[in-house]
Amino acid sequence: MMEYTVNYKELVKYQVFNNLNDLSAGFFNYLVDLVTENISRGKKFTIALSGGSTPMHIYNYMSVVHKGIRHWEDILIYWGDERCVPPESPESNYGNAWRTILHNVNIPTENINRIRGEEDPVKESIRYSTLLNKLDKSNDTPVFDLVILGLGEDGHTASIFPDQMRLLSSEKLVEVATHPGSGQKRISLTGQVLNQARNILFLATGAKKQQRIYEIFNDKKTAEAYPAYHIRPENGNIVWFMDTEAAAKL
Ligand code: 6PG
Repeated sequence: MMEYTVNYKELVKYQVFNNLNDLSAGFFNYLVDLVTENISRGKKFTIALSGGSTPMHIYNYMSVVHKGIRHWEDILIYWGDERCVPPESPESNYGNAWRTILHNVNIPTENINRIRGEEDPVKESIRYSTLLNKLDKSNDTPVFDLVILGLGEDGHTASIFPDQMRLLSSEKLVEVATHPGSGQKRISLTGQVLNQARNILFLATGAKKQQRIYEIFNDKKTAEAYPAYHIRPENGNIVWFMDTEAAAKL
């Protein structure tokens, strides 16, 4: 497994928040700054959203304060991964983002590039990878302005699971994954796309993430088995937003 010369703590920045509301407010300000900077350069802002429960708190927070972002027409939304379920499913990452925030903001439909969880996974993974060709490129790889990621208790991120580490180094931009516990099919951006992003933001809250974060931030041998440990930007920045519970062992 990959050995790194840079200690993880030298690579990343992190912020610890007292609670989910403060973290959501911190995220919103972080996002507004990035979007504003891009738009001041006349560029659309491209973001890959994450699934899971942590972003839901942020989406709910943003559904109240979203008017702080006036340029939704300049934001292009994608997903880092999706469960192979229809949008109506409570499992759907797109569905949950739509029902909490996206239905409530004036973002053009064409700016929302969902992964079609209801389609054949292999065909959809191919279709989605062609969608990514609309993005800027670096080394032939699409470049997101911001990729939001969560951290699973097993160290997974997006839908790159510890028993499918090959997705970190896949030649493809998008791959089909299988949740090791449920067997649910997933569609996920691969490590090459995630690591090409200009900004990578990990969101991790709750005591259950404490140990994984301790191992990752201290370059423990066990961390090498965690896909999240191998998400390292080629040229961009990587930031973690955590609550005090998740950061308790730092
Ligand atoms: C997903 C996510 C996944 C998630 C982690 C953390 O589709 O579920 O992409 O990687 O971010 O499992 O999820 P929580 O935020 O719910 O802990």
